[in-house]
Amino acid sequence: MKAAQINEYGTDVVEINNNAGMPATSPGKVLVKVHAAGVNPFDWKICEGYVNQSRKFSFPITIGGDFAGTVIDVGEGVVQYEKGDSVYGSGLFLSGGSGTFAQFVSTGENLLAMKPEKASYQEAAALPLVGVSALDVLSHKMKLQKGQKILIHGGSGGIGSMAIQIAKHMGAYVATTARKDRALYLEDLGADEIIDYKEEIFEEKLQEYDAVFDTVGTETYRRSFQVLRKGGIIVSMLEQPDKELMDRYHVNSLAQSTRITSDSLRKLSGLFDNGVIRVSIDRVFSLDEAAHALEYQRNGTVKGKVVIALLQEG
Ligand SMILES: NC(=O)c1ccc[n+]([C@@H]2O[C@H](COP(=O)([O-])OP(=O)(O)OC[C@H]3O[C@@H](n4cnc5c(N)ncnc54)[C@H](OP(=O)(O)O)[C@@H]3O)[C@@H](O)[C@H]2O)c1
Repeated sequence: MKAAQINEYGTDVVEINNNAGMPATSPGKVLVKVHAAGVNPFDWKICEGYVNQSRKFSFPITIGGDFAGTVIDVGEGVVQYEKGDSVYGSGLFLSGGSGTFAQFVSTGENLLAMKPEKASYQEAAALPLVGVSALDVLSHKMKLQKGQKILIHGGSGGIGSMAIQIAKHMGAYVATTARKDRALYLEDLGADEIIDYKEEIFEEKLQEYDAVFDTVGTETYRRSFQVLRKGGIIVSMLEQPDKELMDRYHVNSLAQSTRITSDSLRKLSGLFDNGVIRVSIDRVFSLDEAAHALEYQRNGTVKGKVVIALLQEG
């Protein structure tokens, strides 16, 4: 089969292998024909070696985590899925999957759910990591309440786009930071207040917020403490809690580490099928263009999500 693989960590290391080995169907695993794979910043970070170096993985590694496709075989003990089911989820090698930038992926049944019925394969492939991250942070880490005020950084990115829609659905007032030319897109997602992060200083405009969702990190994380009321909370996708700032501003700070589960994917499917969330596909690449897709995700000003299409929709 064809797969996008790496044989070393670094930049420019992605190779297309036309003779990659077919993933095996083993107990507890599901073999899926991949229709589309979603691209996340984590994919290029893995290529560059931002993985736990204490865990050794043997090359070649087939890259890619998010995907949607059709079940073609199931391993011993799998009862929830059968041949022909349309599923989506994660096939990341770090979670025991065989990698999704490939024609076929084998992954644990606990990392899958049935694809949202109203989503195309490309839309479903774009959802898992960003959707589960947004849902988990807002519902479990922050326990966001109706009427609360939240600042979501990076509103036009993958996680930010999801978080705006889910936070609005939960009844919050949502401010978000993004580039100026994203304003219409963000209003359409439901944002109440949009701050141009290139020209405006968000901490001068927003005060007494209940929560900040940080998808950007570094100085954006540290400046965000000024926006929060005492007892407020900031959850970051990138930064570990800064004890000194927590004490100074009397706020809570948590780091998010997203784990995709069948349960969280099922909730996400419900939100999609009920029209609470939708996903904007910024650009579609072929598997042969996997390296370009990663580069575009990294350097482009992406609106929503980038996907790799392996099969035509329909
Ligand atoms: N901890 C975990 O478990 C976990 C899980 C998933 C993702 N992540 C990490 O979370 C981060 C966000 O993921 P994602 O998928 O949402 O990435 P993404 O789609 O690339 O979105 C990031 C967004 O941040 C915006 N941005 C950049 N600088 C900004 C600034 N100074 N102020 C406001 N917005 C800014 C970008 O906008 P422009 O392009 O317009 O500048 C982009 O829209 C990534 O670093 C990813 O690796 C962590």
